[in-house]
Amino acid sequence: KQQEFSYLYDIHEKANDFYHYYLMSTNNGAEAYDYLIQRQLTKEVLEVFQFGLAPNNSQLLVQYLQKAGFTSEQLVDSGIFYMADSGELIDRFRNRIMIPLRNSRGDVVAFSGRVFQENSEKSAKYLNSPETSIFKKGKLIYNLDNARLPIRNQNKVLIAEGYMDVISLYQAGYENVVASMGTSLSEDQLKQLSKMTNTLIFAFDGDDAGQKATSRAFQTAQGITNAEIKAIQIPNKLDPDEWIKEHGKDSFQQLINQCISQFEFNRDFFKKDYNLNDEYELAQYIEKVIELISQIKSPIEQQLRINDLVNEYHLSEAIITEQVNRARDIRP
Ligand code: GTP
Ligand code: MN
Ligand code: MN
Ligand code: MN
Ligand code: MN
Repeated sequence: KQQEFSYLYDIHEKANDFYHYYLMSTNNGAEAYDYLIQRQLTKEVLEVFQFGLAPNNSQLLVQYLQKAGFTSEQLVDSGIFYMADSGELIDRFRNRIMIPLRNSRGDVVAFSGRVFQENSEKSAKYLNSPETSIFKKGKLIYNLDNARLPIRNQNKVLIAEGYMDVISLYQAGYENVVASMGTSLSEDQLKQLSKMTNTLIFAFDGDDAGQKATSRAFQTAQGITNAEIKAIQIPNKLDPDEWIKEHGKDSFQQLINQCISQFEFNRDFFKKDYNLNDEYELAQYIEKVIELISQIKSPIEQQLRINDLVNEYHLSEAIITEQVNRARDIRP
């Protein structure tokens, strides 16, 4: 199978070299390079993650690859080009900073291209390669090739939403970091990671989209992994990259130290929907919390959360315990 698609790996490797050279070593790369330096990426990190730049409207890459012997059909198969009605090969990625996406063995199998100019707001911020024979979005875990050993050694993985978060965390000294490709974390991705470690830590963006992604990821993980799963809460809707820039890496470590369980996450997530000054809504909220407590697997964590509820709202422990048991028993 590997053999069958070897031309796709070769095209990606060559395209990656081309984009990287164009960014790092040509005058045309200067503006994109400055953008990355402004974002506080170091030259070393641009090398580690092999950042590149796709030229704006040029035949350079297609000529380079045709000279290397690839056919038009092979170039279209790679997803990097598409064919215009005229029969001409067009670059899918134009004037974008190129981030190579590698499979777990380290082969480049796709790209994500980011806009970097002020006036490019109307185009999508990131453009990804289409799925091909060697690239399946729901399976690829960004940076797993670099992070595999650190994940095993530290028995812990940080899972971010964005490439830039992975890279920023790497710069801050975290090597056991991966990202989910923007899409919500898939069962397959969660299974792959659970095989490597039994501690997964979600480090998604602090904005609404990131909170929804966290909620979904917790749900997806139910029943498919026994790993301990926690989530980092990033205040002020920031993402890991932005948080580290504003508050430093020690402060990010504090967020990791304060990471919360699925129960705590859901409790806080649902709490926003209730007006707790209203007795009726307070009662509904407490019933929701009881339902969440009933889903906790560890009997000890369950007892601790019952204690919290009893103390916070001055309730009877016997009644809460009874309600928790009932909620557990009526679940299908
Ligand atoms: P920066 O603005 O460069 O810091 O990116 P970010 O990682 O903070 O992006 P954001 O939080 O907006 O999105 C998280 C992830 O979702 C990105 O890393 C991408 O994988 C994905 N994503 C974001 N915008 C787009 C888009 O317009 N198209 C696609 N296909 N994916 C996107
Ligand atoms: Mn280089
Ligand atoms: Mn976001
Ligand atoms: Mn960001
Ligand atoms: Mn983000």
